Amino acid sequence: MDNSKIKRYTVTAALPYTNGPVHIGHLAGVYLPADTYVRYLRSNHRDVKFICGSDENGVPITLKAKKEGTTPQAVVDKYHKIIGDSFKEFGVSFDIYHRTSSPMHHQTASDFFETLYEKGVFTEEITEQYYDESAKTFLADRYITGTCPKCGFENAYGDQCENCGSTLNATDLINPKSTLSGEPPVRKETKNWFLPLEQYEERLRAYIESHKEWKPNVYGQCQSWLNAGLQPRAMTRDLDWGVRVPVKDAEGKVLYVWFDAPIGYISATKELFEYARLDVWNPKAEEYYITENGMEKGSWEEYWKDDATKLVHFIGKDNIVFHCIIFPAMLMAHGGYILADNVPANEFLNLEGQKISTSKNWAVWLNEYLVEFKDKQDVLRYVLTATAPETKDNDFTWKDFQARNNNELVAVFGNFVNRVVVLTHKYFGGKVPMLMEVTEQDQQVIDELALFPGKISASIENYRFREALTEVMNVARLGNKYLADTEPWKVIKTDEDRVRTILNIGLQIIATLEILIEPFLPFTADKLMKMLNYGGHQWEDAGKMNLLVRGHQLNEPVLLFEKIEDAEVQAQIDKLNQSKIDNTLANAVAAPAKENIDFDQFSAMDIRVATIIAAEKVEKTKKLLKLTLDTGLDQRTVVSGIAEFFTPEQVIGQQVSVLVNLAPREIKGILSQGMILMSENSDGKLTFVAPVQNHVNGSVIR
Ligand code: 2FM
Ligand code: ZN
Repeated sequence: MDNSKIKRYTVTAALPYTNGPVHIGHLAGVYLPADTYVRYLRSNHRDVKFICGSDENGVPITLKAKKEGTTPQAVVDKYHKIIGDSFKEFGVSFDIYHRTSSPMHHQTASDFFETLYEKGVFTEEITEQYYDESAKTFLADRYITGTCPKCGFENAYGDQCENCGSTLNATDLINPKSTLSGEPPVRKETKNWFLPLEQYEERLRAYIESHKEWKPNVYGQCQSWLNAGLQPRAMTRDLDWGVRVPVKDAEGKVLYVWFDAPIGYISATKELFEYARLDVWNPKAEEYYITENGMEKGSWEEYWKDDATKLVHFIGKDNIVFHCIIFPAMLMAHGGYILADNVPANEFLNLEGQKISTSKNWAVWLNEYLVEFKDKQDVLRYVLTATAPETKDNDFTWKDFQARNNNELVAVFGNFVNRVVVLTHKYFGGKVPMLMEVTEQDQQVIDELALFPGKISASIENYRFREALTEVMNVARLGNKYLADTEPWKVIKTDEDRVRTILNIGLQIIATLEILIEPFLPFTADKLMKMLNYGGHQWEDAGKMNLLVRGHQLNEPVLLFEKIEDAEVQAQIDKLNQSKIDNTLANAVAAPAKENIDFDQFSAMDIRVATIIAAEKVEKTKKLLKLTLDTGLDQRTVVSGIAEFFTPEQVIGQQVSVLVNLAPREIKGILSQGMILMSENSDGKLTFVAPVQNHVNGSVIR
């Protein structure tokens, strides 16, 4: 869109499902780029509304409620608060963080559907869906499991097999079962309303093709959907949680969650203006995280219906089709709405080389990070932007997190700011010194500095946030180099005026850094503002040399960033490893039971408590330890295959259970008299079976 024609911006960030907290993948993929973009626009005096909220309808919520043994409403209330608070604490500066369970949303989505219905847009189709007769309900795909027809995995979902990744239809599953009752579902006819996407194909193609500037991943996915041919898609579902279908004969049906969720952007905008219109502080404003910034008068319609509004959707790559094909088709069908000018979707962020997974707890949860790394929001903002999966999937590792903090934020950015402010306090009582004679070297730095804001603007306006952040760091690098080249701490002994000039330039660079870093690291910008003791500037001032006037009093320096120690990141790595162990245990499948035996067979075994009093490795073997046991009856030798799990030192003193009447046998030339009992889990890990409290050796186990 031609910049000169833009009067205002509507920027949306995907509404997260309210079925769990948000993690670093969400932040890196959607919310940080969106927030950076919006903060940049605001710094440029552009009129912008930044819209988000909780996606509280649909099957993900009802499933979670079932899992937690509670109601869908309780689930959305809990996570709306957790997610909303996390965003707020990370400085994600939505004008409103709304909810799709709100009356405003229900009304807006319902009206939207009704308009399409009345225009005759929908087709009504009767299809066969799975129905659970004992639970008396139709079953959403996620409520049906069965054997995957592609790979034979027994626990595939009705829409997807998590083993082989295939997309499935519930009716493809072999031996389908309802997860509600465990019974096989029956097929039953049901009527739903379909959006005939194929009728919008031409207009959608024209729309997409007019946006060749979109990211290749987004443009490419749209093309492949269009080329595959669009099909009618059901916009209603047989479910009892969501926005009721507002037409006749629609008992027990709600709007398809992907129909109502994007309308959530519109209802949130309406809510924002509703409060401004009321001109009173409504308690709901807190629940909807409405900021002062959003409380302006005007009309929501300008932000959705005027061609001079630039609409941008920030989303993750799994949301592309919904934002680029289905939602635009809905808006076209309705009429009167503008379409998105861009849909900058990111790829996925992995964690320590593995896909982030909520169910496997393989994630860094924002609410936990905020507790464990108190006041370090900007460190995570920095690392996630610097490694954002803009063009391909990317990996977050704790070691990289530590390295970027220590080597970039502390050593480059923080170090530069600190040196200049400390020296200004030391030599000039914290007052901005005068710019005296400007040398050629100074002029070069001044000229170079002036080029940065333009470069960074171009990167941000083209949604290249990593590149933009690198350039901001280059400003700090320029500053560090300038200090290293001019060495004011040496020159002070001979030429105080020269030092005035150097520190004046250093301070102007910091003032520019404050402006340029604000969209990325707002908390750091805030600290800089306090340190510089001024109210901040806006984007057009960046790069100028008169941001701090001579004689202006600075505040005392504070450290912007602290070193992160090995132990802190190790604790995080350990935590992830624990998730891995927990998962293995949770997924461990117990071996099938053996044939029954009678009591006499059992009591024929003489199992006793014993203590290992000596242990050594059996030479030339990997697995065997030679153990000397005090069995209470005698001291005897037992050869045991546990050397891969325990060293001799670790087992001395350990109480064990030993089968003492097992016929002796020779192992590697050693006579083994009995066998100690071990428990083995599904990944082969061994642990001792021993009395919970120490017992007298020779005690009988029965
Ligand atoms: O993928 C998700 O988390 C969806 N809840 C995103 C919805 S975006 C929008 F359309 F509301
Ligand atoms: Zn499969």
